[in-house]
Amino acid sequence: MSEILLRAENISRRFGGLLAVSDFNFDIRAGEVLGLIGPNGAGKSTTFNVISGYYKPSSGRITFLGRDVTGLSTVAMSRRGLVRTFQHGSLLKGMTVRDNILMGALYSLRDRHARERRIVETAEMLGLADMLDLTAGSLPHGHQRMLSIAIAFCARPKLLCLDEPLAGLNNTEMGAALTAMRRIRDEFNTTILLVDHNMRAVMQICERIVVLNHGRKLAEGTPADIRNNPDVIRAYLGDEA
Ligand SMILES: Nc1ncnc2c1ncn2[C@@H]1O[C@H](COP(=O)(O)OP(=O)(O)O)[C@@H](O)[C@H]1O
Ligand SMILES: [Mg+2]
Repeated sequence: MSEILLRAENISRRFGGLLAVSDFNFDIRAGEVLGLIGPNGAGKSTTFNVISGYYKPSSGRITFLGRDVTGLSTVAMSRRGLVRTFQHGSLLKGMTVRDNILMGALYSLRDRHARERRIVETAEMLGLADMLDLTAGSLPHGHQRMLSIAIAFCARPKLLCLDEPLAGLNNTEMGAALTAMRRIRDEFNTTILLVDHNMRAVMQICERIVVLNHGRKLAEGTPADIRNNPDVIRAYLGDEA
């Protein structure tokens, strides 16, 4: 079994009276694509926020590469190799694709030529090589989603956390996005944590899936285990299932 890259132990996050994530335990193994799924409001984005340093957990512990990183800032986490995208995007729409991608490489690369090479390589991976000088806001939706991934991937993280990267993509764009994710994993040995509502895509690309429901872990296993799990089916379809 491969090495544990990130371990979340009993993490909880409270917002006032609401327990958005509750005693959640999970591991992310080096080199895998791990899916995190669950109905709206299940706590997926909160989990992203907690492991990437946007929110401190109310309780629990997070280790990354064997070190306790609980409560570290996002900058500290990205320096250690954990980078995430946002569900609702974080593009600077008036800026060029090149300058948007550059945001992701600022910390890691001081040399101008190395930065340019990194930008071109990143754009190529995500199908944006011909669009470097266009403004981000002028791109079609699918390319804007790819640009969000490019910004995160440009830092060459060890763990890339993608929050609903496939939302609103058509079939062609979806195929391109899945191919790009596979290349990011296979060619750069990047571990990927994927949140998405497109079950077919998640089942296709993930080796393992963790299911959250009302902030708690409901199930964990291979795509086949999850697809056939009665608790999961009930959580998604309600009791009439
Ligand atoms: N910053 C916040 N303040 C208050 N409540 C929040 C905040 N972020 C998330 N929540 C609540 O926590 C629960 C889980 O939300 P979220 O993690 O966004 O779910 P998901 O991404 O699975 O749809 C929801 O009830 C949501 O309203
Ligand atoms: Mg969410």
